[in-house]
Amino acid sequence: MRSGPVRGSGSVHDDLLERRGDYPVLATTTYLANHTLGAMHRRTPERLAEYAALWAERGVVAWETWAPEVERVADLVGSLIGAPAGTTVMRQNVADLLGDLAVSLDWSGPRNRVVTSALEWPGSLHTWSQIGRLGGEAVVVPGEPDGVSFDVQRMVDAIDERTLLVECSHVLFRTSTIVDLAPVVEKAHLVGALVVVDGYQAAGTLDVDVVALGADVYLGGSVKYLSGGPGNGWMHVTADVVDRLEPVSAGWFGQLAPFAFDPEIAYAPGIRRFAGGTPGVPSAYAAEPAYQALADIGMTRVRERSTSLTQPLLEAALERGWTVRSPHDPARRAGHVTIDPGDSQRVHDGLIARGTLVDHRPGVGIRVSPHFYNSLDESLGVLDTMAEVLAER
Ligand SMILES: Cc1ncc(COP(=O)(O)O)c(C=O)c1O
Repeated sequence: MRSGPVRGSGSVHDDLLERRGDYPVLATTTYLANHTLGAMHRRTPERLAEYAALWAERGVVAWETWAPEVERVADLVGSLIGAPAGTTVMRQNVADLLGDLAVSLDWSGPRNRVVTSALEWPGSLHTWSQIGRLGGEAVVVPGEPDGVSFDVQRMVDAIDERTLLVECSHVLFRTSTIVDLAPVVEKAHLVGALVVVDGYQAAGTLDVDVVALGADVYLGGSVKYLSGGPGNGWMHVTADVVDRLEPVSAGWFGQLAPFAFDPEIAYAPGIRRFAGGTPGVPSAYAAEPAYQALADIGMTRVRERSTSLTQPLLEAALERGWTVRSPHDPARRAGHVTIDPGDSQRVHDGLIARGTLVDHRPGVGIRVSPHFYNSLDESLGVLDTMAEVLAER
């Protein structure tokens, strides 16, 4: 942890700094890249060793422990977004889940459109760009020229009786803008379309309540604020909708009776039909400690802490006359602040060279994302380091 006085308006829940020792990378870097790769929990290697010991010592009998553990971890990550137990499944990543979701629907009828936005995660846009192969048509609503605001009304207007599915991020990955999803969900349901929300940039930093949100599907992965590492995509589908979906990558874990080895497909009821083939057991073991830490803290406190670190950061960046490409209102912004001090790529490289870990997105700027374990001093200190690099020219 950086020494020296804490500057700016006070941050809340400073008791969370006691958890810094649980995240080894904080000892050697100023870690502000939680929107792209959350810090590893110190218990992750222990849990991976536990997974390996089961395999080494018990062989095939390890499945008796592995299989229920994967389901428990799925429910644990589900609990962080407010999902009821038994409604969340884990798979490799969002691309895998979204692809399987797309083919689980019938695009051959007159209701064959997906409505999405140009500001979506590119991987998702790539999936939708191929929907014509299934008979579908993609309607991509353009983003606003400022790259920050999202005109929800444009998306609402694009939804009609031809819409089969609407896919939209809860939080935009470039700018951290929180999208007001309520009108989208309302219109989609009014015309009989399904709503799929990409919650990757929301989970682990916002206090998400999927039930209150009312979307049919809420999916994401774990490499960001959830600190769960790669291989831990997850998807919640409401009980009302899930049994209407027929995934193609059903796999044997998605079957009603996997050990019957029946060549005829018979989907498991509920979310397990999306389980696919053999699950990624080590990934789930690796993710569990960080998920558990967030569950222990509670997402309300995590969100309050995040805002108390990002708002002073944003205000101090504006005071320096720098461009901030994230909403200024904390209620409309999630976990990171996108700052463009000018010459962003060079400034980014200078920060990395000095052990301040952030990232850079072309055309928008440097993304900075303090998590609950960062201090206010670290959050504000990044601006001094940016100024230092700028002065070097
Ligand atoms: C909003 C959003 N969706 C999806 C992804 C990643 O998708 P995948 O799990 O397919 O790598 C990211 C970032 O990596 C993201 O920011």
